[in-house]
Amino acid sequence: MMRRSLIAGNWKMNGDRAMTAQWCARVARELGREYAADGVGKVAAAGGVADAGGAYFANANDDDAAEIAVCPPHILISAAVDALAGSCVGVGAQDLDANESGAFTGQTSARMLADGGCRYVIVGHSERRALYHESDQSAAQKAHTARAAGLCAILCVGETRAERDAGDTEKVLARQLDAFLDALCGDAPGYSAAPAGVVAYEPVWAIGSGRAATPQQAQAAHHFLRARIAARDARVAAQCRILYGGSVSGGNAAELLAQPDIDGALVGGASLKADDFLAICGAAS
Ligand code: PGA
Repeated sequence: MMRRSLIAGNWKMNGDRAMTAQWCARVARELGREYAADGVGKVAAAGGVADAGGAYFANANDDDAAEIAVCPPHILISAAVDALAGSCVGVGAQDLDANESGAFTGQTSARMLADGGCRYVIVGHSERRALYHESDQSAAQKAHTARAAGLCAILCVGETRAERDAGDTEKVLARQLDAFLDALCGDAPGYSAAPAGVVAYEPVWAIGSGRAATPQQAQAAHHFLRARIAARDARVAAQCRILYGGSVSGGNAAELLAQPDIDGALVGGASLKADDFLAICGAAS
């Protein structure tokens, strides 16, 4: 089955209002402003082909067109939502709280994100696991809450260098994925209407290092993840998009995205510059 590519930018704790305004204006202009009624961004430009400066994308009716999203820091989400209104670029958050509301100082709920115009939320990023003690269970709970609120949860999984060197990559991925699968394959009444989940394979050693996994390393991990999902639910496995993240750039994106089980990219550093991000989006269509 055909899975539509998803290219999502993760700004991490970078950016300000001026950068957000410039980035969004540039990306919306380049990717076109045609809005798909199904709520899923279709990359398009007026007239069908991107105008001067980047003939990146085919026309709006082309189902091969990639879905594009950006995840700025919470404080910049509303500026991004406003600046990208009516464009094909969706907005997401980088984290959320699993609780619905209440005395959780500093936290943001799934409903607040959805209400604020987000369509996506990243959960279980390795920086949150390492720096803020996020557990597999807490990431899974967040994913569950996000999906119940109508958000597309992007669950990050990935091994450290030491885990890879010890031959534990699959063991770690299985552990991280399994808690999430209960949310992804859950079939509580009405739950099937929740947006599909997305998994992002992000080897910790590749993040921010400038040295991405090779296409073969990434494909092997993605294949393992899809097979593990298939063991639970073959239909979900066929539909679930598995993104690669870790030093994705305009230079390596095409080769990574050409792998059969790589359905898009989660882009950190290279998402901060609109032109670099656009080059990666171009490689996805
Ligand atoms: P990077 O980050 O592209 O800068 O390696 C990816 C991520 O952490 O999501």
